[in-house]
Amino acid sequence: MCGIIGYSGPLNARKVMLDGLAQLEYRGYDSAGIAYFGDDSRIHQIKTTGKVSRLRELCGSLDDEVSHCGIGHTRWATHGGVTQANAHPHTAGRVTLIHNGIIENYHQLTEQYHLEDRLLSQTDSEVAAWVLDSVYDGDPVGSIRRFLPLLEGSYAFCIMFSDRPGEIYAVRTVSPLVAAYTPSGSIVASDLTALIPYTKSYFVVPEGMILKMTPYQVALYDEEGCRKDPEIMVVNWNIDAAMKNGFPHFMLKEIHEQPEALKNTILPRISKGLPDFGDDGISDEIFLECSQIRIVACGTAMHAGMVAKAIMEPLLRIPVTVTIASEFRYENPLIDSKTLVIIISQSGETIDTLAALRLARSMGSKTLAIVNVKGSTIARESDYVFYTHAGPEIAVASTKAYSVQLAGLYMICCRMGLVRGCITKAEGQAFMAELLEAIPAMEEMIKEKDHIKSVVSHLVDQPDAFFIGRGLDYAFSLEGALKLKEISYIHAEAYAAGELKHGTIALIADRVPVIAIATQSSILSKMLSNVREVKARGAFVVLITKEGTAVPDDIADIQIRIPALNDHFTVFPIAVVLQLIAYYASLLKGLNVDQPRNLAKSVTVE
Ligand code: F6R
Repeated sequence: MCGIIGYSGPLNARKVMLDGLAQLEYRGYDSAGIAYFGDDSRIHQIKTTGKVSRLRELCGSLDDEVSHCGIGHTRWATHGGVTQANAHPHTAGRVTLIHNGIIENYHQLTEQYHLEDRLLSQTDSEVAAWVLDSVYDGDPVGSIRRFLPLLEGSYAFCIMFSDRPGEIYAVRTVSPLVAAYTPSGSIVASDLTALIPYTKSYFVVPEGMILKMTPYQVALYDEEGCRKDPEIMVVNWNIDAAMKNGFPHFMLKEIHEQPEALKNTILPRISKGLPDFGDDGISDEIFLECSQIRIVACGTAMHAGMVAKAIMEPLLRIPVTVTIASEFRYENPLIDSKTLVIIISQSGETIDTLAALRLARSMGSKTLAIVNVKGSTIARESDYVFYTHAGPEIAVASTKAYSVQLAGLYMICCRMGLVRGCITKAEGQAFMAELLEAIPAMEEMIKEKDHIKSVVSHLVDQPDAFFIGRGLDYAFSLEGALKLKEISYIHAEAYAAGELKHGTIALIADRVPVIAIATQSSILSKMLSNVREVKARGAFVVLITKEGTAVPDDIADIQIRIPALNDHFTVFPIAVVLQLIAYYASLLKGLNVDQPRNLAKSVTVE
């Protein structure tokens, strides 16, 4: 959460920062601000509530005042409301800084350093700035080194000292920071989307090391103050991947990118028709030696885990449990060295998921992370990584990341089934062939978008909607409901259709929308009975079934048909349908599809 950028170099720093903040805005968009060294070698600051576009307006003509060193921030409020005073940067004496994270002991620090009367904002970040100012003795690296042990919590800071024009210092614990030295200068940011216009080579700022940036170099200093060489990585996508490329919204673009993302994720890992993780370095031993699987993730990634559980448990015949990361980390989980913990995270930075990973490792479990962002903290700390190749996901609502996470989980399931002797080679090859068939099925559903759009007009005036299904279809429903509520603000619930009668059916009244997913043959008749029950109570039913499924005409108000895939693989085209329903609902309501209220991409605070 919160996007941060720092730049020192020959370019117009105000432009670099504003462009970078526009790229990073998906990380938080309550307010935005920049601080920079002006011609007079003094620090100037502009900040505002609202979007980066508002900040750009306030900055006026970028050529009026050319700076070559500055820091910029786009905020997702944690401590203190959305006000100009709470927007970053914060200045305290000689220190100006921006912060992503939470300083948990800010209250004690306020008392200890007698800051009550000095604070202009309600933020923990300003408290940190004052504390740093009070330990600052003219030696930035030494002072930051003394400052860090005073803090509890998570942080990524970019710091300027008023007596060090042209220099930026950065440091992090948990919260992400990547940096690069390029022919266009030195740059640091909370993620790659801000760096990519300037370079493809970058490094992750190691936790606890201090980064010093000047126009001519970036230098890393370890705990002893010794220079360290950064570990350079190369990004495999270009700036186009982080642009809308003609689509009105990132979300729609990312929905369209799913077939390609699936191909990129699956095809390089197929050998002789079977999953092969040789290039990933994922050893078969972790699949052989485990007696239970725990899947841990948040939000959409957790929903991918719910689908995986429904696929894995019957096939592998070992217990598979899915747990929300923020619960897992505090529940004293029953795990040991025979537990395989599968961690799923698009960003690789979600703080609860990271904490769950660390807990699992500390308890001796093997960890396998399914991650989209290369070099992210979860990827680096996990025993094994399965990288999904979705490219950058910019819309806050996750779409393509979900599909590729599923693809990864299906492949892991297949590999595990083979290694453990639960399926034969021929069955494994058939499984993989069916997984690949899901790709054109997704393409077909994308072509159906006008039909799906027409469904949505029946939803948008309603305060509530229900997504129902049984078995795997229930797992898909969870994601459908989340997608709808997060971007259209329609209250949506996912329900196991057989459970409706135990309470929730009381909410079904005239015209209440029910999106019923019925793709699982073994329970189709039971599911259709549940659909009849809601229809009989006046629900407006949108029924999603496979081509060829015999369904009475009067059972639903609208039907959406997906290609007739094997039951296990229907999630892929269903995902497209559910994503498009949410997308068009948000669009029809005139909402900000890509940046829904109160949310931000990458939840790096607890
Ligand atoms: C919903 C959404 C979130 C994320 C969740 C986990 O559309 O995007 O629910 O799935 O915050 O994020 P990652 O996968 O980055 O750990």
